[in-house]
Amino acid sequence: MTVTTEETLILVKPDGVVRGLTGEILRRIEARGYRLVNIRLVQANRSLLAQHYAEHEGKPFYEPLIEFMQSGPVVAIRVAGNRVIEGCRALAGATDPTAAAPGTIRGDLARDWGLKVQQNLVHGSDSPESAARELALWFG
Ligand code: RTP
Ligand code: MG
Repeated sequence: MTVTTEETLILVKPDGVVRGLTGEILRRIEARGYRLVNIRLVQANRSLLAQHYAEHEGKPFYEPLIEFMQSGPVVAIRVAGNRVIEGCRALAGATDPTAAAPGTIRGDLARDWGLKVQQNLVHGSDSPESAARELALWFG
């Protein structure tokens, strides 16, 4: 029998790194039982971020998002487990941190700062196709 384990890309965004929340975010992922496969601290450049966020090009928050994501290092994490994509999206909570449910990373640890882009601590791939594409970008 072949067991295919799903993988996802999690990013601790610059706000998470600068606020010292990387450990807390990793703890929540590990506590749920997912497996860390690889991890690296990256100062992302515009080219990498433009590819990563290609789907958002042209949206009002696009330029602020690219700027925010370059404002400091991010921690890129390759995470594995059955249904890990869905599980990590649930762990992260809603995009808008004010609306994110308590118990989620964003709902417990993030807030709205009144900026042009939501600083919401984490990114998580939203489908197997996105995960494959994003893992190739961040881990080669
Ligand atoms: P992510 O891709 O980072 O996991 O977040 P997501 O799927 O929940 O949200 P998405 O729609 O893909 O948006 C990407 C990131 O852009 C920022 N954003 N700000 N109106 C706003 O201020 C706004 N809308 C989106 C957030 O950082 C969001 O996570
Ligand atoms: Mg997204």
